[in-house]
Amino acid sequence: MKAGVGVVSSLLLFLLMGAVFAQRVRPRKPSKGPPPTKKPFVPKRVIPAEPEPQEPTDYPPPILGPPSPYSDCPRECLCHPSYPNSLYCENRNLRVVPVIPFRTHYLYLQNNYISELTAEAFNNATELRWINLANNHIQKIDKQVFKKIPGLLYFYAQRNKLNEVPSGLPSSLEQLRLDRNRISKIPAGAFSKLHNLTLLDLHYNQLSDSDLGKNTLKDLQSLMQLNLAHNTLRKMPAGIPHSLHQLFLDKNRIDDIPEDYFKGFTHLAFVRLNYNQLSDKGVPKAVFNMSSLLDLQLAHNQLTVVPLFNNRLEHLHLNHNSIESINGTEICPFSMSADHNDDSLVPRLRYLRLDGNHLHPPIPMDVIMCFRHLHSIVM
Ligand SMILES: *[C@@H]1O[C@H](CO)[C@@H](O)[C@H](O)[C@H]1NC(C)=O
Ligand SMILES: *[C@@H]1O[C@H](CO)[C@@H](O)[C@H](O)[C@H]1NC(C)=O
Ligand SMILES: *[C@@H]1O[C@H](CO)[C@@H](O)[C@H](O)[C@H]1NC(C)=O
Ligand SMILES: *[C@@H]1O[C@H](CO)[C@@H](O)[C@H](O)[C@H]1NC(C)=O
Repeated sequence: MKAGVGVVSSLLLFLLMGAVFAQRVRPRKPSKGPPPTKKPFVPKRVIPAEPEPQEPTDYPPPILGPPSPYSDCPRECLCHPSYPNSLYCENRNLRVVPVIPFRTHYLYLQNNYISELTAEAFNNATELRWINLANNHIQKIDKQVFKKIPGLLYFYAQRNKLNEVPSGLPSSLEQLRLDRNRISKIPAGAFSKLHNLTLLDLHYNQLSDSDLGKNTLKDLQSLMQLNLAHNTLRKMPAGIPHSLHQLFLDKNRIDDIPEDYFKGFTHLAFVRLNYNQLSDKGVPKAVFNMSSLLDLQLAHNQLTVVPLFNNRLEHLHLNHNSIESINGTEICPFSMSADHNDDSLVPRLRYLRLDGNHLHPPIPMDVIMCFRHLHSIVM
């Protein structure tokens, strides 16, 4: 284990030196060609005032393909003979959704300039399972759209301009990605029928505590992954379903976790609360003592003591807090236990980050020895 620590710290040192070195030797951009000469004077052309254009003219024109052997294939899309159920319309500078053929199950529309979803395009698209609309300009979604596609499983609309979670999402939905929008509102009942939803990604939006009432998420009885990172939450979200496996809340302003917040979660394995405002006062001693937890990330907070964790935990990130000392008896009670041969008692911790704290003296050796499965430690 001693060797492990040595390797990690010398690796860290090497990387640091590399970073410094890279900064020092990074060459300046060579200035190409002769020095710029003064541009000759060109009289400005007088442009007559025009009415506001219908759409920004700086979008490049839509890219149309050659006519397809399929008569129902929109010219804006590619219909691949080997994948008759897929319609590829991504990267085409599209402003509107083309009319989707009946046979389409998988619809790719990412990286376009689409600003609105209207029902007409989906009139015949009753078999749709997946829609990828990532990286468009969507602000508005007609509620009727989802009525036409009652079997939709995945709806991906990350990197758009939505201000609220769309209403009327089909109850068949399993994955909903709405990250990197401008969402500051969740309409009442938006999630109440989504009993099959397993993934909800809302990171990088503008959600605050008042948007997440205790009933907002409670009907998502199949939810496994919830990502609310990069919002403006001050409290832990209320009423999150006990089915959850992963909860990501990094980059909020959370300063307090209620004592029994994690009571009743039997699958929760990943909890990330990096970059919040957690101090010892807001973290009840045993709040993370869950036997299902495998990965706990609390980096960039204000903790001065290591919170208690279960011996099944494998990854622990505590870097960039204010931890000054570690009590071996507390974080590894096993080290003091007589029965060193009972493997079920041996802590499972494999990866530990403690860098960016004020540890003095450094982590005691008996603590390191206690974690027999420790693979790497950064401090
Ligand atoms: C809708 O789909 C049906 C069944 O494939 C087809 O017969 C009909 O022509 C389609 N209508 C449109 C408007 O594409
Ligand atoms: C939810 O999933 C189950 C199991 O796959 C399926 O039988 C059921 O029809 C789904 N519900 C909806 C509303 O699609
Ligand atoms: C932590 O959880 C274990 C069960 O997994 C339990 O035996 C132990 O008493 C708990 N410790 C505290 C301080 O709550
Ligand atoms: C470490 O924690 C144990 C148990 O809480 C306590 O009895 C002991 O005094 C602590 N040791 C130090 C050095 O603080």
